Parts: sequence; C-alpha cells; structure tokens
Amino acid sequence: MTKQDFIPKAYHTKIENGTITWESPSNIALVKYWGKKKNQIPENPSISFTLDNCKTITTLSFVKRDLSTVLKVTPDFSFEVFLDGEKKEGFKSKIQTFFERIELYLPFLRDYHFKIETSNTFPHSSGIASSASGMSALALCLMSIEKELSVISSAIDKSHFSDDYFNQKASFLARLGSGSACRSIEGDLIVWGESKSVEGSSGLFGVKYPYQVHENFKEYQDTILLIDKGEKQVSSTVGHNLMHNHPFAQNRFQQAHENLEELKSILESGNLDKFIALIESEALTLHAMMMTSMPYFILMKPNTLEIINKIWNFRKDTGLHIGFTLDAGANVHVLYPKKEAEVILEFIKNELVAYCQNGHYICDRIGFGAKQL
Ligand code: DP6
Repeated sequence: MTKQDFIPKAYHTKIENGTITWESPSNIALVKYWGKKKNQIPENPSISFTLDNCKTITTLSFVKRDLSTVLKVTPDFSFEVFLDGEKKEGFKSKIQTFFERIELYLPFLRDYHFKIETSNTFPHSSGIASSASGMSALALCLMSIEKELSVISSAIDKSHFSDDYFNQKASFLARLGSGSACRSIEGDLIVWGESKSVEGSSGLFGVKYPYQVHENFKEYQDTILLIDKGEKQVSSTVGHNLMHNHPFAQNRFQQAHENLEELKSILESGNLDKFIALIESEALTLHAMMMTSMPYFILMKPNTLEIINKIWNFRKDTGLHIGFTLDAGANVHVLYPKKEAEVILEFIKNELVAYCQNGHYICDRIGFGAKQL
C-alpha cells in the first residue's frame, strides 16, 4: 500500500446527517517510537500491546453544511469538541491540524459540520496519553462516514471496504493525528514502522503482529501506577523533535530494529526473563534519550525510581516475572503474566501504591482493539 491508495475516488451516496460512536483503546509500546520523519513517519519500528480498559469513547455527529452561504471559495472546517459534556476550545487546534493533514484522504471533511463528543474511561488528568485512544476513535468515526458515503452498489467499492481496508485506512489516518494512535485500532500486538523482521510492516499504518505468540503473553497484565498527574512536561512533538541532531539518534534507531528482531524470538519462546530485560531496557533508553538531548529533560520523578527499585528487589526475592515500562512521563506501567497476577497484584497494592499520587492506579491488560458502539 502507498499513501495514494488511501485517496478515495468519487463518493456514490449523499448523506445529510448522522451519528457514529466508536470506542478505542490506548496502547503501551514495548519497543518505543521516539523520533519521526516528515509526515508522521517513524524513524524506527515500534510494537505495542493494545490495552483493554483505558479507552476513549467518541461520538461524532455530522450535518451537511449549506455551503452556498459560505462566501469563501474554500470554507473553513466546521467542528466543535466536547470532553465529558464540556466544550473544549483548547482541543480545537490539534483537531484543526489533524483535519488539515487528512483532508486529501477524506475529501468530505469541509462538507459537514461536526460535533465531536468524547470521554475517557481514565481520568483526563492522569498523565495517560489520551491522544492514542482519542485520535484513533475519531479516525474510526470518520472512516464510518466514508464507508457510508462510498458503499452503494459497485462490487469494486464494496471490496475496497473490506474490514482490512477499513482498519488499515483508520490506522493510516490516526497516525496523522498522533503517531502511536495508529497502533490502537486493533489488538493485541501491533507493529508500526518498516522492519525487516516483520513482514507487511509499514511506516504508514500499524499492522497486527503476524507471528506466533507464546501462551505466556496471553492476557498479559498492565497495572498503571499514576505518579504524576500534572501536565506533560515535554509534549510528544517537542520530544520527537529532540531526536533531530541527537548525538545517539542513529544508534538508538538501529537498536530499536534489533530489539524488535529479538522480541520476535522472545514472543515465540515465551522467555519472560528475556522479555523483561528487553522492555525495561527500552523504557530506560527512551528516558536516556531525553536526558541526553539538548535541551535535556528528566521525566521520571523520585517515586518512579522508588517503584523501579522495589520491582527489582521483589523480582530478585521471589523469582516472579514482574517488569516495567515507561511512557514519556513519570507513570510506571507494571507488566506481568496472568498466571502470576494474584501475588503480584497483592505486592503492588501493599508496596507500590503508596508511591502513587493520591494512591491512584489503573488495572489493565492486553486488549483486542476498537469497537463501534
Ligand atoms: C513515548 O504518538 O504521542 O509513547 O506522533 O507526536 O503524537 P506524536 O507522538 P506520540 O508519541 C508516543 C511516544 C511514546 C512511545 C510509543 O508510544 O511508542
């Protein structure tokens, strides 16, 4: 597929208005995306677990505009955004940019007024990135409109709208909203970015991990410890840009390729010790990139380190397979297999939750992607 394949031919149907709702999950990267080229193409491949409980629910209502009253040749996009029922002017510029980036692929965007109503199952201020779930949910709603506009009679167009095409284009669009969002359409393991190790992988959209995965990784658990619920210290846009002219960038991109290759054999063999070593190293490397960029940042908090040390000690003492990964922030994702969940969750509650802001944490696990409601 090339990006030209996502430019639609003329639509068949006219639709005056409608309402569509999708829920879409967040995801947590095991091999991290950090650094991008033009047009939201990642510098290196990444792979993530799709989550199950942390999701965004978006309802998109649309009404055909009477463009004869709009004087300009090219009318502006017309939309409003609500979070939990409250109008959010602050979200508009991100969506404006998103619409500008995807207009070529969804030429109906200026024909309608959109009301975007969104809510998250996790607190908005939790520091959990809502851009992945939010942008993927919106992309899916827009794809549902495109599907309605396109599918009418011709067999060619129907086959064009196979589930595969729908998901691929939704992922392609979501990527243009936020890179990691392209990994939230499906589950349970998604690869994004071209890699020799993964057949069919692409920088344009996420693909389902196509190889065998050991039982050990089924129903893998992710307990998210919320350490710092404040505004992100470094936006992801700023963060990715720090990889331009970064002294270690090329080695890091190379390492991500190698880690994905290694993860492939780990996922097949079910070797949890090697899995933990790989994901923890990825998490710390991501933070190391931020510490060694110019300007430099430390995104971990003292409690992040307390938790990491506690996890390491507990692992050493018990031999259980508890590990962690981090986003570009202070929160800790504690990852562990289902069969050890009872003891590990007890440890988390007794020993780690005390380091969370207001004792807040979220129990999640691997999930299978977005759903239309
Ligand atoms: C550290 O997807 O938020 O979570 O493309 O600029 O929206 P933009 O960035 P974003 O970056 C996520 C970075 C990360 C690692 C990852 O999810 O792979």
